[in-house]
Amino acid sequence: MSIFLPELKYGLDKLEPFLSQRALDFHYGKHFVNYINAANALIKDTEFDNMSLRAIVKNSDGALFNNAAQVLNHEIFFNSMAPQETAMPESVRDLVLGSFNSAEELKEQIFKSATAHFGSGWTWLVYDAATGKLEIRNTGNAANPITEGLVVLLGLDLWEHSYYLDYQNRRADYVKGFLEHIDWSYAERHYVRALTR
Ligand SMILES: [Fe+2]
Repeated sequence: MSIFLPELKYGLDKLEPFLSQRALDFHYGKHFVNYINAANALIKDTEFDNMSLRAIVKNSDGALFNNAAQVLNHEIFFNSMAPQETAMPESVRDLVLGSFNSAEELKEQIFKSATAHFGSGWTWLVYDAATGKLEIRNTGNAANPITEGLVVLLGLDLWEHSYYLDYQNRRADYVKGFLEHIDWSYAERHYVRALTR
């Protein structure tokens, strides 16, 4: 089974001015595609060939883990955004208020975490089924919290390739823009799936 490029649910120009079409063209059309091509070359004729992407990420290491995880990470990232921030579904709102004082506080915590992260990596909003609470996690390079048994609801790319064309060194402005373009219905889908597992 090959790993395929998932279709973007919005046009390449639809996140402007937060992210330019040019930047998205590079990020989605080049970086994301390169990870997919590299992962496909590495799974060819191996035991990973018939696994789902998530299973590959949970069971691999080295170059295959790095490339497969980056495919999953980017799939989550591009789905975590919408041309306009969507309304927060009730189930997600309840979850947010059970874990933070308010939705604003959650966003502030994401902002702090993402701007404090050193180097390449990711900021995640995760649901911990063991505690029933939301948490914010940072990971370096390609790491994804699903390998720790956590449910990922949203992901923010902190690799410079995700913001350098539009923001250069101003990561904080990029993170602010992300927080204004969250697709909460995507977070809800993963939360509901975790509850029914
Ligand atoms: Fe990226």
